Amino acid sequence: MKTIVVYYTFGGSTKKEAERIAAERGADLCRVKEAKKRGLIASFIPGGLQAMKRKAVAVLPLDVSLRDYDRIIIGCPVWAGFPAPAFNSVLELLPAGKEVELFLCSGSGDSSKSAEETKTLIENKGCRLVCCRDVRTYARPGKIKE
Ligand SMILES: Cc1cc2nc3c(=O)[nH]c(=O)nc-3n(C[C@H](O)[C@H](O)[C@H](O)COP(=O)(O)O)c2cc1C
Repeated sequence: MKTIVVYYTFGGSTKKEAERIAAERGADLCRVKEAKKRGLIASFIPGGLQAMKRKAVAVLPLDVSLRDYDRIIIGCPVWAGFPAPAFNSVLELLPAGKEVELFLCSGSGDSSKSAEETKTLIENKGCRLVCCRDVRTYARPGKIKE
């Protein structure tokens, strides 16, 4: 089974978890980057609001085709209780018929507020959600050094 971990990170903790999973599973790795650079303040406003409204943001083209994979593991931080906006952009790129795993990184390890709807959004893409888990990072909001 060909597997890829596709993730967005702002502060770096989702990147760390994505790299760990990819190494453990022998999966390819693909980082999603927003087209417009975002600072810390813009992660809260408008970022938190975009997350709550399930808004997609423009992202740079991926250097892989998700069609080439059987299983797609999506990783994303939680903003204001919801997956960060880049998650919605990944959803738009998700081909139907894939097996999907999801991990959501947050300081609290709790995305229960939005979890059911998040699962439905993946299933509405014609994908089978095989696993969905929270990762408690304890990380404070911050921006990764590039
Ligand atoms: C804009 C913003 C909103 C956040 N909202 C929450 C939240 O609602 N609940 C929570 O537990 N953590 C929240 N956090 C903390 C992040 O989810 C946590 O630091 C996560 O590990 C970040 O992942 P990253 O380092 O890959 O960006 C927020 C962080 C940011 C930047």
